[in-house]
Amino acid sequence: MAEVHDGAAGSEVEKHETAAPAPATAVVRADRIPNPGFPPERLRVTDLDPKKEKQAERTVSGLFLLSIVGSIIAVVAYIVLPIEEGNPGSVRLNNLFLGVGITLGLLGIGIGAVHWSKALMHGHELVEQRHPTRGSDESRTRAVEIFRESNKESGFTRRSLVRNTLIGALVATPIPAVALFRDLAPEEDPIALLKQTMWEEGTRLALDPSGVPIRASDVTIGSVFHVIPEGLAELESHRLEEKAKAAVLLMRLPPDELNIREGRETWSYDGIVAYSKICTHVGCPVALYEQQTHHLLCPCHQSQFDVANHCEVIFGPAARPLPQLPITVDDEGYLVARRDFEEPVGPSFWEREL
Ligand code: FES
Repeated sequence: MAEVHDGAAGSEVEKHETAAPAPATAVVRADRIPNPGFPPERLRVTDLDPKKEKQAERTVSGLFLLSIVGSIIAVVAYIVLPIEEGNPGSVRLNNLFLGVGITLGLLGIGIGAVHWSKALMHGHELVEQRHPTRGSDESRTRAVEIFRESNKESGFTRRSLVRNTLIGALVATPIPAVALFRDLAPEEDPIALLKQTMWEEGTRLALDPSGVPIRASDVTIGSVFHVIPEGLAELESHRLEEKAKAAVLLMRLPPDELNIREGRETWSYDGIVAYSKICTHVGCPVALYEQQTHHLLCPCHQSQFDVANHCEVIFGPAARPLPQLPITVDDEGYLVARRDFEEPVGPSFWEREL
């Protein structure tokens, strides 16, 4: 005979006619409240009337078909209603039909599945006893039985129209996403795209965003300028794409503090250096300059570049230095590029192919 305590000091003691448990073994107490059981099952109209059942089946299939139509609308809208630069109306139309199509695609599947389970699948309640999670042979056999019963009760294999339209809807729904993400990839070779920017021999360095050219005498020691190629502000198309590649930071250091890399002796002018502003990690604009230490900081993931040492990475996830733009001055004293960058700007994924 063993005594089982409910944990409260001085509480009533229960007694069970069982063997004494081993020390530190949990004891399961008998449930004092009798199981009230389930109320009697209430049959739905679809259980009682075959016509209503057929009607519900058609509704579910209709919703899955609606989902397919929505996905098709999204893909077609994306192709026939492209976004045209400088045309806000095209953005509105594209977004409207794309949004309507994707919404129908997702809602059709969601509402159809809920309606299927509520109107057509078996409605009776079941009890599953809690048991250890280990899978014995009996429980595996039972799992297979349950699977078969569920299949029978839901009519997944029997109701071929519902099943097939659901499969069609599930296959069609991700298609708009595939089309959208595929279009994010550059059309051209990304290495060539990132290697070639607007900079070329003689292009003046200009202030961002005004486009006013910069004289070497304007750049005092310790200052930093956000720079774009002269003429970029007047571009009629692809202005943002060009700016995203050609943006440059211009700084002037005391010449004796500049550690110039071999072969780049002519790339700077009297302590003035220009480096790509596009972080070599994942392409954020490197925007913070510490004048005293000559460090550039990318705010996205804290990569730091040492301007005094050809912008080598001194901290953070960036894998290579910022590309340097070779510069000099023209006859009127304006800073100009000697040529384009010698390596791709921005993230370094392209190095994997070299
Ligand atoms: S983008 Fe600059 S550190 Fe990540």
